[in-house]
Amino acid sequence: MVWGASVKHYGGVCILVLGAALAAEAPEQPLPFSHKAHAGDMKLQCKMCHVNPDPGETEGIPQAAVCMECHSAVKTESPAIRKLAAYAQNHRIIPWVRTCEIPAFVTFSHRKHVTAGNTCQDCHGKVAETERLAPAGNLNMGGCMNCHQARNASIDCTFCHDPQ
Ligand code: HEC
Ligand code: HEC
Ligand code: HEC
Ligand code: HEC
Ligand code: HEC
Repeated sequence: MVWGASVKHYGGVCILVLGAALAAEAPEQPLPFSHKAHAGDMKLQCKMCHVNPDPGETEGIPQAAVCMECHSAVKTESPAIRKLAAYAQNHRIIPWVRTCEIPAFVTFSHRKHVTAGNTCQDCHGKVAETERLAPAGNLNMGGCMNCHQARNASIDCTFCHDPQ
């Protein structure tokens, strides 16, 4: 993965529709990126920016080259886009602050979930209507378990944790 070393960690903070939505402040991001503008108003597909690589279980966060497909021509005078262009030009990783992360000792695969018909919104909520993503809701064991019970997936401990 390509996360910067300075990335903050929020334990268990995705929005799970089945869990209680706990309001939290959106973290300060290196660039004022808006999902509402890009995925909502412009209707860009999630997969334009979040590619599940082959082989791979993660969605990943886009880096500047993806953004520059448009921003080499769009809004080039904006201070934020100048900063973006500098990341691209210097081949620097954009240090996006994670808002959705679970501990490494938990087994999780995007590919398996999406192939099984779970939608992005089932777990991440209405991202395309959100200006700034916040660590909100719960992505704890209870949130996983609730959906597994509802959709007849296993809740055996070893399904999500390595046997000790
Ligand atoms: C498909 C084209 C496209 C892609 C890809 C794209 N953008 Fe944009 N972006 C736009 C357009 C068009 C606007 C102007 C929207 C408006 O003003 O209503 C915009 C606006 C913005 C703004 C606001 C700029 C300002 O000062 O108003 C930021 C910041 C931004 N984009 C960042 C990004 C980042 C970061 C990425 C990559 C993760 C990205 N964009 C990818 C088309 C794109
Ligand atoms: C134009 C590119 C772009 C598109 C389209 C896009 N995203 Fe994102 N996404 C980003 C960027 C950049 C970040 C990191 C900054 C942030 O959190 O806002 C991000 C972060 C996220 C995160 C938080 C990940 C974490 O751990 O911090 C989730 C969840 C997410 N996106 C889901 C979606 C979904 C679902 C869609 C489709 C409805 C979507 N995104 C469409 C660029 C995009
Ligand atoms: C079954 C629930 C679930 C579904 C469905 C789901 N996600 Fe996630 N998503 C998660 C979890 C859990 C994490 C945290 C993963 C981790 O920390 O390893 C995550 C993390 C992410 C991240 C951060 C980068 C990464 O790969 O860890 C992005 C971006 C993201 N999801 C986008 C999406 C998009 C786009 C879709 C739809 C194609 C989607 N997710 C579908 C639960 C889900
Ligand atoms: C929105 C519903 C939903 C949520 C939330 C959800 N899951 Fe699942 N998960 C499923 C379904 C449905 C399957 C069964 C897929 C199948 O039958 O192939 C599954 C399968 C799995 C598998 C087995 C994948 C494989 O190898 O076949 C693991 C591991 C797993 N989930 C872990 C998690 C974890 C960890 C979380 C919480 C972070 C979580 N799930 C949250 C619906 C969900
Ligand atoms: C569907 C996936 C899933 C299943 C099944 C599951 N867990 Fe978890 N577990 C998680 C996730 C996600 C976390 C991390 C988030 C949290 O702490 O709630 C976690 C965290 C934990 C932790 C660490 C708690 C902490 O605060 O550090 C323990 C201990 C644990 N699980 C034990 C179990 C046991 C015992 C079982 C069987 C009864 C089980 N888990 C079944 C997903 C699962």
